[in-house]
Amino acid sequence: TRKVILDCDPGHDDAISIIIAASKLSHLEILGITTVAGNVEVEKNTVNALKVKDLIGLDVPVIQGAKRPLINKMEIATEIHGESGMDGPTLPHPKSTADSGHAVDFIIEQLSTVKGKVTLVPTGPLTNIALALMKAPEIKHKIDEIVLMGGGTFGNWTPTAEFNIFVDAEAAKVVFESGVHVTMFGLDATHQVIATKEVQQRLAKVDNKVAKFVSELLVFFGEMYEDYFGFEGGPIHDACTTMYLLKPELFDFKHVNVAVETKGELTYGVTSVDLLKVTGKIPNTHFAYKVDQEEFWNLFESVLQSYDEV
Ligand code: BDR
Ligand code: CA
Repeated sequence: TRKVILDCDPGHDDAISIIIAASKLSHLEILGITTVAGNVEVEKNTVNALKVKDLIGLDVPVIQGAKRPLINKMEIATEIHGESGMDGPTLPHPKSTADSGHAVDFIIEQLSTVKGKVTLVPTGPLTNIALALMKAPEIKHKIDEIVLMGGGTFGNWTPTAEFNIFVDAEAAKVVFESGVHVTMFGLDATHQVIATKEVQQRLAKVDNKVAKFVSELLVFFGEMYEDYFGFEGGPIHDACTTMYLLKPELFDFKHVNVAVETKGELTYGVTSVDLLKVTGKIPNTHFAYKVDQEEFWNLFESVLQSYDEV
């Protein structure tokens, strides 16, 4: 088993990522779910995380984190995720509130006390992770890998920048420059896993309450992507992180240097991916560039089926 902390802003695809990590097919030990301001305000993201936890019967702490990016003003994505951050399906009010304390302290405490290494899985802006690395740099050697969704060689929030990195590029810079190994699922990879109508129809046949919830998420998310980007479905970006942890062979990687732009007028929040190794800088990232789509959806369907008894 591999110990993980899911740092997220649920978020349709964040919720799906949690469901994958917590499924019976997963060997991950979830130490906790930490939330961050991103898709919507952190308080809403926390409520969504708690709702998902109740739905799937997951018993792990949920700890709220940063209310805003390090330097920037808040930027939210209600155009994509709706007012609640997880519009579409309706889930009951959470049975519990978040655990006490702050996400940044939880991350530091877990990394300092648990036996062995921990994998951090950020699927929102990198504010909490950067703050933890800044507050307690000694935790670095306890981080196995940072498996994140963010960036890419093109943008979805500006023509050049992806949302998670754009929201808090300073935090992303701290993370990519930390010396901790990063496995990166940027738009180059995540746009290869679009939940098209065909995929939606296939998954809608899985008959259990978790699968039904995921189907409803995909329908809403797909409609938003169609309106906003003209896509025929939503890319389930964040799910790539936990699908990778279940089955790394689904993806092909290039070991490259990635740097984050924090100054450009048109390029703020760009991840500069040195694919041709022109900088001579030491590779700090495994950059996912290819997905085995058939196997991805097969495994994803099995993950949903594994919730039959919940
Ligand atoms: C990322 O932004 C959010 O809207 C999604 O949850 C994902 O983490 C994609 O750019
Ligand atoms: Ca997210």
